[in-house]
Amino acid sequence: MRTKLIVANWKMNFTIQEALKFFAALQREMRGVPKAEVVICPPFTALYAFDEAFSETPYKLGAQNMHWEEAGAYTGEISPSFLRELNVMYVILGHSERRRHFKETDALINKKIAAALQQQLIPIICVGETEAERNEGKTRAVVESQVKSAVDGQMKSELEGVVWAYEPVWAIGTGKNATPKLAQEVMGEMRSLLARALDAPLAEKMRILYGGSVSEGNAAAFLGEPDVDGLLVGGASLDPQKFAGIVRAAE
Ligand code: PGA
Repeated sequence: MRTKLIVANWKMNFTIQEALKFFAALQREMRGVPKAEVVICPPFTALYAFDEAFSETPYKLGAQNMHWEEAGAYTGEISPSFLRELNVMYVILGHSERRRHFKETDALINKKIAAALQQQLIPIICVGETEAERNEGKTRAVVESQVKSAVDGQMKSELEGVVWAYEPVWAIGTGKNATPKLAQEVMGEMRSLLARALDAPLAEKMRILYGGSVSEGNAAAFLGEPDVDGLLVGGASLDPQKFAGIVRAAE
């Protein structure tokens, strides 16, 4: 059984004060322990405060990005061990906004995944096609090449806990979510691909999340699909009431 996983990706939103206010409000909204696994990925600046605030709560901490080297002359970058020191468990890698605005390539993302695995951080690896690629019928090819590149050269034994996120680029922040059926189609194919590229029991254990305009209204329908093991939530994760509604949909 794959435990449902709900991840909040705050992107470049919330100061430390706003983040702590959100967390207090979320706990009030949840009234108790969430049944799903819940991960919050605030900006780097709020990680320390959240590490303190999260102790003795079931919530887990994630980062939105990291560098692949441990240390060195990389002005402005954050290393995997800096994240470990803050009890960060998860790290989002290969998000389409990083691919697009910061020119992250599959090869670079592969290096980041290897570094995360080495530091026992669980990568949440994002893949997905753009609108143009979908219109040209390339969805399957794009997702396949991103997935294959991500696992290339990684040790199979280290990939066990890895989380995938299928995020069609055209659905991110647009309010134009994929239909649950369409998401299931791609995510089912992703699992078969992982079974072929790695092995079937490993693919069965890996969690695949859907992301792209997830809301309180559509969360349950996505989670009802057999290969949707959770959700990666952007916009709706900034509102404690809406986010709590999404977490409850996973119960
Ligand atoms: P969205 O973002 O929920 O605002 O569409 C999702 C994401 O970028 O992970």
